[in-house]
Amino acid sequence: MIKPYQSEQLKPLLVDGPSQRDKGRREAESLPSALISSASAANTVMLGGGYFTPLSGFMDKTDAMAVSRTLHTQDGLFWPVPILCRVENASGLEEGQSVALKDPNQPDSPVIAIIDNVKIETLDDSEVKEICEKVYRTSDCNHPGVKDFLDQGNAILSGPTRVLNFSYFETDFPDTFRTAVQIRESISGLGWDKIVAFQTRNPMHRAHEELCRTAMNRIGADGCVIHMLLGKLKPGDIPADVRNAAIRAMVDGYFEPNKIMITGYGFDMLYAGPREAVLHAIFRQNMGATHFIIGRDHAGVGDYYGAFDAQTIFDEEVPEGALDIEIFRADHTAWSNKLKKVVMMREAPNHEISDFMLISGTKMRQMLSDGEAPPPEISRPEVAKVLIDHYQNNP
Ligand code: ADX
Repeated sequence: MIKPYQSEQLKPLLVDGPSQRDKGRREAESLPSALISSASAANTVMLGGGYFTPLSGFMDKTDAMAVSRTLHTQDGLFWPVPILCRVENASGLEEGQSVALKDPNQPDSPVIAIIDNVKIETLDDSEVKEICEKVYRTSDCNHPGVKDFLDQGNAILSGPTRVLNFSYFETDFPDTFRTAVQIRESISGLGWDKIVAFQTRNPMHRAHEELCRTAMNRIGADGCVIHMLLGKLKPGDIPADVRNAAIRAMVDGYFEPNKIMITGYGFDMLYAGPREAVLHAIFRQNMGATHFIIGRDHAGVGDYYGAFDAQTIFDEEVPEGALDIEIFRADHTAWSNKLKKVVMMREAPNHEISDFMLISGTKMRQMLSDGEAPPPEISRPEVAKVLIDHYQNNP
């Protein structure tokens, strides 16, 4: 099986065993505590599940700035995005203590993790801005990822971390939320050697479906792990439960049984385009995938990134040999009216743009809200039904 990222072994930071986790929870009751941001809670869940191997906890300021500026930690580990634990206010906490981290995404904010021997630092406004400009390539607060980054507290906590639970993901998505440890186990149980991972934060339309099928065929893969984001999204994006239902309806109807694993991970979308694509590749290697699909405007939003910047970053900024996972680069994929199938545009000879059926996201949302199914060349009827139900119930 493919090795975890820059490590012989996966390093999930979840405390081993329910009784040890109970003990941690009891210990936390007498510790000083801090309410962390949603993004920090999502980082905690990813650290807990082994996705961020080989990190042993949150980054301190020096690492966060080094990662932002050079894509490397002080120790020389290639890493694309700072992994931070941010709080509004650290007054009342002292360096070197154990601190209980409270989860803002659950009722009554239960403790999600403990940082031992905590280091407490503050990011100043110029550092926050620089991180945005390096990681998101913009500090424009209209960018939803930047907005979320700017809205979080500037005190950062770091140090060895013991994760106690997976927040709401385990309870809200019992059939879908999986850790990197669990996905590796499933892959090994199935005996798959070549595994394609597919990132998604959207319901899967025909283009997404065909990307998975084409990648599997060309790679000769044993299976595909559809790995959907289950955390927070920008307003207007489809909620995870609806997406999950739409994806399951599509897979049931249009894929061979036992070739697709439908899973999800507990992380808030960053919309950081190229840098997020690299983070995506790292955690897909950690979950055991050998190949990772990156198509058009991967993890992008608006016009902040070029359509294929999330592919070129792998040539321009990822050091040779850093990653073992291979990137499957997909061109813009759409239904060809001439060939009567979904194709990668660059592979369709003698086509004008008008030979493809293309619908903007805005038009698609309008149709679904009006109770109208998009053409079957764009969206499977089973998927359209789930989405129409959602829009009609949430006008
Ligand atoms: S993302 O933010 O998670 O990247 P989305 O769920 O829409 O958004 O895309 C999932 C993956 O499919 C990404 O790799 C993206 O680049 C790719 N993709 C989506 N639509 C297309 C398309 N029409 N052509 C090519 N690639 C696409």
